[in-house]
Formats: sequence, structure tokens, C-alpha cells
Amino acid sequence: MSESEAPLPPRVNLLFNERPVRVPYGVTLFDAASWNGIAIDSTCGGHGTCKKCRIRIADEPPAPTSLDIRAYSAEELRAGWRLACRAAATRDTAVEVPPLTTRPKAATVGVGRQVILRPAVVKRYLELAEPTLRDQATDLERVLAELDDLEPRAELAVLKTLGRTLREADYKITAVVVDDVLIAAEPGDTTARRFGIAFDLGTTTVVATLLDLSTGTPVAVDSMLNKQQPFGADVITRISATMLDPGALDKLRELAQETLAELAAAVCEAGQVDPYEVYEVAVAGNATMTHLVLGIDPEPLGMAPFIMSTRLYPEVLAADLGITAHPRARAVVFPAFGAYVGGDITAGLLASGMDRDPRVRLFVDIGTNCEIVLGNRDWLLATAAPAGPAFEGAAIRCGMRAAEGAIEVVTMTPDGLELKVIGDIPAAGLCGSGLVDAVTGLVRLGLLDSSGRFVPADEALARAPALAGRLTTVGQERVFMLADGVYLSQRDVRELQFAKAAIATGWRILLEEAGLTEADVKQVLLAGSFGSYLAPASAIRIGLVPAVPVQRVVPAGNVAGEGAKMALLSLRERAGALALLEEVRYVELSDRADFNDRFIGQLSF
Ligand code: FES
Repeated sequence: MSESEAPLPPRVNLLFNERPVRVPYGVTLFDAASWNGIAIDSTCGGHGTCKKCRIRIADEPPAPTSLDIRAYSAEELRAGWRLACRAAATRDTAVEVPPLTTRPKAATVGVGRQVILRPAVVKRYLELAEPTLRDQATDLERVLAELDDLEPRAELAVLKTLGRTLREADYKITAVVVDDVLIAAEPGDTTARRFGIAFDLGTTTVVATLLDLSTGTPVAVDSMLNKQQPFGADVITRISATMLDPGALDKLRELAQETLAELAAAVCEAGQVDPYEVYEVAVAGNATMTHLVLGIDPEPLGMAPFIMSTRLYPEVLAADLGITAHPRARAVVFPAFGAYVGGDITAGLLASGMDRDPRVRLFVDIGTNCEIVLGNRDWLLATAAPAGPAFEGAAIRCGMRAAEGAIEVVTMTPDGLELKVIGDIPAAGLCGSGLVDAVTGLVRLGLLDSSGRFVPADEALARAPALAGRLTTVGQERVFMLADGVYLSQRDVRELQFAKAAIATGWRILLEEAGLTEADVKQVLLAGSFGSYLAPASAIRIGLVPAVPVQRVVPAGNVAGEGAKMALLSLRERAGALALLEEVRYVELSDRADFNDRFIGQLSF
């Protein structure tokens, strides 16, 4: 990308001990370190109260703040010692980080990301002095005095029962603070038990992961179909439902909330966790799903110019989403970049660390709507391409979801055909990955020409005698028989061509905007459940992803769910997701005059 046109947010180069990192201008050195997995001591989480976040800037240190002056001797200040959470990254500099006095816990989540555990949910066991006629401090003052490094504010709900809890528990209580709010005072020591639930709220499938916030370990995972399914398979049909029937929005909200509630109950039961021990949940979903679960009218999302009601959602409780958890449990709802690049993609980018990697990477989440992000730690471009229902199986004659009975892998040689069917049962249909494999195989063997047409029977016989007999007709249409009753039709090939052309046009336009070529892409991340099944070689062969060496195409799995987990495990990562909103530039495809021509140019295999 040339310097002049690059969408470069200002960045600063830092050298933490020996580790070079690049961070947005103006973030604190504490955040800069945390985002890059560099551990700095702290018990207050960057609030400036614990004075533990010691760092040294030997060369031209910034002017000391009033807190620095209280934390260090004059000699230390001269030597460049500062509090990391008070010093901003405003110029390239080397920072010395002393070894930790306490070992921070870290967890590996996302696409191989190492996250230092600093959840928003903090529990403190307190043994408080009982009040006397002399000591007239209020109940709340007594508690807050012990939490001065966290500086929380108290909720009315806590105050209602605080007096009784303190007295019944002999002033031995556990304070539960979420971010900056004291949400509960529990009798006795409950510090070992704090949990959160991360949700990937998909249009088709919803996944819930119960996390132990003390260790970062998943305790239980469960998934189910989104109960909104009867309203249609994709976001557009669900938005249309709300436009046709005034009662549909309420119904869709209820169904989404029921889905979350059932999953929450299931993971708590499986993990033997009392729902009251769940103090925070995180939800990553596309813009439509997020609007619907919050009961926000999605109509403007469904028509040009595709406007969201908001990018950032207001603070809500888990209870507002219909989830049974601690009554004051918080809900983190992932913000969206645009109507068609939603919170699931924000979460996915967080999980993939796209904004911290120096390599140019391409992130492709394939579904009915395909979200594409290209970039590295210096710049990120995003777009959405309408891929249509080919990958969900909806528009394919024998198409089905990737469930039992679906052909998920097709291996073809001139001498025969091998199928892998989910559940090892007789094939009932073809899912997205099987579709791509089948078309790839047929193109490679010359049974489909590059325009996507089945070749005449005699040509097929010459090229692959063992397979030519499978080319037949069903009704008026030419088809290729894969298994008993399961075939690929000429029209199916067309559907895949359209989907592939939309996606390829999307990433090609992004490459062009960045002044790069396919060869510059160092990694392609295939996100989402479909991406995980897709054979990288097939995706390359049909031009769905750039022509890079096959090992550079990496199925990344459920990155939205991973991002949601990261937000629960680390406040810093959560802040990183917000920062992404500033860093991603959205490129709209639908208003480009050249889109149609380029789309047509990408139709061939
Ligand atoms: S992190 Fe506690 S004072 Fe800086």
C-alpha cells in the first residue's frame, strides 16, 4: 500500500525489554503491554491505585504524573521509573519491564492467542471490623475501604441486603465487583467460584461456553439451532418477517432469548455451576441477530442504505437477554462495524489477532453473507459480499446443513469417487464443503468446463471413463450423481459460481484498495463452521480464496465464540475489540459502478 493512500491510524513503535510491538498512538503503556501479552504487575487493572505497574523509560522519560511522584523516590523518577498505566505511548521508545513479583495466569484462546487473565469479574474475601459506637463507618464504607484499588460504585441491589449479609456472616464476606460496579456481597469466602458464559449467537447455530474466570478454562460447551429458524434461514427473511407482522419482532426477540437461556441452563448443569455464580456473559452475533435479541427494530438493516441503530450497545444485564444468571450479572454485547460486518466479526478479528500481526492476512467468514477483512497491524479493510444460500445448502437441489448424512468431503480421480459422510451413514445430501469439493473435482477432471457447464457425454467418457456414467439427467437437467439419490445439478454449479464470484470480487477489491496482489497475502483464515469444513485446496482451486500455497489457508473455527471468551477473560482484550472499531475501514461493494463487471469476470472456474 502506498504511503499516501494507506488508511494508517497513527502508530507508535515500542520495545518492551527486547520485544518490538506497534500500538495505537496515545494508549497507556500498560494497555500496550497487555494487548501484546507482555505481563506487567498490577492488582488494580490499570486504575492507577495499586502502584505496582512499574516500568522504566531510560531515554527521555515523560514528565512524571502526580501519581508517579507519590509512587517513586526522586532518584527513581530521575532514572526514568514511571507507572505504566499513567504513561501514554506518544513516541517510539524502549521500555524496561521488571520481572513479575507474581506470576499472572494466562490462557490460550482464539487463533493461538495467549491472553493474560484479567477478567472484569473480581472477587475479594473481606474480614471487616464490626462497627461500634466509636466506629460509625457505614456498612458500605467498610466494604469500599477494602476495595480502594478497584474504586467500585455500589448498586442499590447490593445495598438492599448488605446490612443483613454483613451481620449474618459475622462481617466475613466476598465482594463481587464487575468492572467498576460492586454487584454483590456474598456471605463467607466464595472467591474460588466465578464464572462467565460466552455466546456465539449465529443465525443458524448458537454456541455457549461456560468459562471458569479464575483459570480461563472452559467448563462446559453446548450448542443448538437458533430457535428463530422457523422465521427463515437467513437474516433477510427474519428482517422481512418484522416488516410484515408487527408482532414478529417480539416473537423473534423471545426466541433468541429462549435459545440463550436454554443453553445457559444446559452449560451450568453440565458444569455443576449454580447460575448465580455466573457474573458476566458475552454475546457475539451479527448485527441483525444482536438487534433482534435486544428487541431493536432491524428494519433499516434490511434495505439501502443499510443503517444500524447503533454501533455500540448500551450496558445491559444478562437478565435483559432472558438469561438466568446472577441477577446483576453484566452482558457484554460485541459492537459491529456495519450492518453486514457485525459483532461476530469484531469478535473474530479479536480472536485472530489480525490487528496485531505484521503479516498481511485475509479473514473470510463464509455464510449466506460473507464477511471479508484484509490487513495487518497497521491497517484493516472490511467488506461484506452477498454469497447467497449456496453454502448453507438452501439453494442446492440436494443441499443440506453440515449435519448427519451430509457429504462433507468428495475425492475424485478418473478411476472413481470417494465420499465422506458425516456420521458414517448413507448419504442424504450435500453440505457446503462437499459442494465445493465436488465442483473442484469435476473441474479438475474436465467434466465441468471453466464456464461451469457439464461437458458432453463423449468428452466425459474420454476424460474420466469410470465417472462418465454418473453424468445423467434428472427431469430436464443435467446432473452428476454422487450417491444414491444425491446429485449435483447444473443449477447447483451456477449457485456456487455466484457465491464464489461475490466472495472473490470482495477480496479482490480489498486487495486493490490496499495496492496489493494475491501473492502478498501471507495467510487466509477461513472462519465460521463452514470455513472449518472447507478443504483449503478446493477453496484455492475454484478461486474462492487467493491462489496462495495451500498451507497458508487455515481453517480458524468458531472465532466469534473465541472472541467472546477473550472478552470475558481480559478487560484489555475487550478494550482491544472497541479499538478495532476505529481501525477498520469499511468498503461498500454495492455502490461500486464496477462491481457487476468484476463479478461477471469472476464467474468462471
Ligand atoms: S496498574 Fe495499578 S497503578 Fe498502574
